[in-house]
Amino acid sequence: MQHTPVLVKEIAEIFSKNLSNGSVFIDGTVGLAGHTIELANYFDRQKKKATIIGVDQDVKMLALALENVRKNKTNCEIYLKKENYAELYLVLKNYQLIGVDGVLLDLGVNSAQFDDLTRGFSFNAEKLDMRFDESKKLTAHTIVNFYSEKELGNILAKFGEVKGAYGIAKKIVEDRPIKTTFELKRLLEQNYQTRKGKINPATLVFQALRIEVNSELKNLENFLKSINNILNTGGIVAIISFHSLEDRLVKNYFYQLVESGEFKYLKNKLIVPSAEEIAQNLRARSAKLRVIKKY
Ligand SMILES: C[S@@+](CC[C@H](N)C(=O)[O-])C[C@H]1O[C@@H](n2cnc3c(N)ncnc32)[C@H](O)[C@@H]1O
Repeated sequence: MQHTPVLVKEIAEIFSKNLSNGSVFIDGTVGLAGHTIELANYFDRQKKKATIIGVDQDVKMLALALENVRKNKTNCEIYLKKENYAELYLVLKNYQLIGVDGVLLDLGVNSAQFDDLTRGFSFNAEKLDMRFDESKKLTAHTIVNFYSEKELGNILAKFGEVKGAYGIAKKIVEDRPIKTTFELKRLLEQNYQTRKGKINPATLVFQALRIEVNSELKNLENFLKSINNILNTGGIVAIISFHSLEDRLVKNYFYQLVESGEFKYLKNKLIVPSAEEIAQNLRARSAKLRVIKKY
């Protein structure tokens, strides 16, 4: 299974240039280890050794990451661990670390999860699921079929910024039971058209469901609050986000950290993929990278 990592050269350059030999950092969304492997290779090229701890909530991704890591020869040490990036203090405790020199988050779903129809992330999936961590109970099926109309409307409004969220919630409730993402997408497309220049309402509904299933914004917020405690002086945090709700949170927290006087923006405040990268990987088109360094 393949996943093309976004802004990988930019990330690898930032980490390998700013961090010294012997650095320890966390890839908090390791996925298929695309960023981790490229980071290790950049450190090798600069004759530096790093320890990288790759974290993911999804054990299936960790198994694929392990395969990919094993295929790549590097002098860096790479460890993989099932954990939520919102609770990196547990990772620090596990590896007996006081702090780390860097954290990377590449938010969202990876292609392997998306393409696996049993995971229920894509429009044509067999299920309504969307869990990153399959040991958790809440699925998209529960939300779509059992949340009250008001709760559902609130989620669509808050996490999808869906226009007419409460009307859509009403329609979904009327059409229950809805068993697959395909049925949900068909219902949405039959009843709600994409307005010119706007995102397809089905895309926004799916985004809202995924955020609710995985507590994505809460996790991101908890991670952002933890930065000062887990990062060593000289350490960097890089976050790639893919929609405005995530990016807004990152932008605001980074601003507060910079205002505190202990952090500075690294490079430009906002880094986006080049036109060439977007041409090769459409997923990159909405990516936004923000990086800060602790002084
Ligand atoms: C876009 S993918 C990362 C891809 C990765 N950078 C690569 O190059 O292969 C995001 C990954 O983050 C994981 N994830 C999402 N939320 C998480 C969380 N709160 N804690 C840990 N992992 C999470 C997902 O399971 C997914 O594998």
